[in-house]
Amino acid sequence: MQLVFATNNLNKLEEVQTILPPHIKLLSLKDIAWVEDIPETQNTIEGNAIQKAEYLKKHYGYDCFADDTGLEVEALNGEPGVFSARYAGPQRSAEDNTNKLLTELRDKSNRNARFKTVIALHLNGEIQTFTGICKGEITTQKQGKGGFGYDPIFKAEGYDKTFAEITLEEKNKIGHRGKAVVHLVDFLNTVSESD
Ligand code: IMP
Repeated sequence: MQLVFATNNLNKLEEVQTILPPHIKLLSLKDIAWVEDIPETQNTIEGNAIQKAEYLKKHYGYDCFADDTGLEVEALNGEPGVFSARYAGPQRSAEDNTNKLLTELRDKSNRNARFKTVIALHLNGEIQTFTGICKGEITTQKQGKGGFGYDPIFKAEGYDKTFAEITLEEKNKIGHRGKAVVHLVDFLNTVSESD
């Protein structure tokens, strides 16, 4: 089975590639020479994931999946949530976004937060969604050099290291995207069994 993952984010591609079983061949947007931005203009994480998968299928014809992720912070009533990528402005800078979040939370003792990923799969003319959630907390300062996005300021529940300080394998095991991908793979396995 061949599926396009609708992302240009090489970190995400690597994360997902390590989880998918070998019989599922993952193609990136680069592999299919796709250079345009894919619109994500919906006001929910699920809506954006579906929009991206539908857009790629419509314009390219490939079976594909897209993911959308948001960081929901309890003390900020769930913000930045669906706006996580542009939290500090349209430049979509991870540095600016993490700095802004640390500033917004500087006087808050409630640091609870969760990452939520929704994957939308467009397969055989149908859309399915898969969700993964990882609960944790926002640190008071950046820690670690690995990962991407908000990883340096997020510690998963029960961990004393941030996502930027743990290995990719560990992040995949406990992380939001890893959990959503496991649901995706479970579903794809049922499809290949019934073929
Ligand atoms: P999107 O899913 O690419 O739209 O991501 C939304 C925002 O969340 C962006 O700012 C990403 O950098 C950030 N983000 C997505 N996944 C992760 C992750 O696994 N760790 C840290 N930040 C992430």
